[in-house]
Amino acid sequence: MRPKFIAGNWKMTSTLAQAKELAAAVAKGTSANPDLLVGVCPPFPWLTAVAEALKGSAVQLGGQDCHYEKEGAFTGSVSPAMLLEAGCQWVILGHSERRHGLGETDELLNKKLKSALAAGLKVIFCIGELLAEREANTTETVLDRQLTAGLVGITPEHMKNVVIAYEPVWAIGTGKVASPEQAQEAHAFVRGKIASLLGENTAKNVLIQYGGSVKPDNAATLLHLPDVDGALVGGASLKADTFLAIVNAGKRL
Ligand code: PGA
Repeated sequence: MRPKFIAGNWKMTSTLAQAKELAAAVAKGTSANPDLLVGVCPPFPWLTAVAEALKGSAVQLGGQDCHYEKEGAFTGSVSPAMLLEAGCQWVILGHSERRHGLGETDELLNKKLKSALAAGLKVIFCIGELLAEREANTTETVLDRQLTAGLVGITPEHMKNVVIAYEPVWAIGTGKVASPEQAQEAHAFVRGKIASLLGENTAKNVLIQYGGSVKPDNAATLLHLPDVDGALVGGASLKADTFLAIVNAGKRL
């Protein structure tokens, strides 16, 4: 049985004080449960303070991006080792706000993925189609390309440390959530593609999160679809009560 994994992506929000308060409240409301994993991904400058606030709790910490190089003249970038030293177990790679907002390519993301895994981070690897791609019936083509190119050189062993987040771009921050049918269909396609790239066993075990306007009132339906193993939550992760309500919706019925 795969666990559920609910992760909060705080994006470029919060003051230091807000970040510490939110982390402390999430930590307080989360109990250790191997079937229900919880993580938060604050902005880089707050990572060490949030790590401190999460100490002793079951909540895991992630960064929102990293560079593929280990160190050097890369102004504004953060290395995988820096994230680890700041207390992260996780990094989000390939979020649509970086793919589409900043032009990150499948090839670049593949380099980041390999580098993050080699350093010892676990990765939430995001994929998803634009509205125009869904309307043109090319969703599966896009997901196929993002997985095929994104996972070049990745082995079944690596995949033990990779979670896929399916996030239809048109559902992110828009309040327009994918229907249960759309989500299940895309997740089943992703799992099937992973089976063809990396084998049935990897596909059976890989966690596939859904992301895009997950809220307390739609979380239970989404989280109990057969191929949905969790959620990557943006807006609703910025308040402890809404985030914890989504976490609770992931409990087994
Ligand atoms: P949202 O963001 O929950 O605000 O739609 C999701 C995400 O960007 O991961």
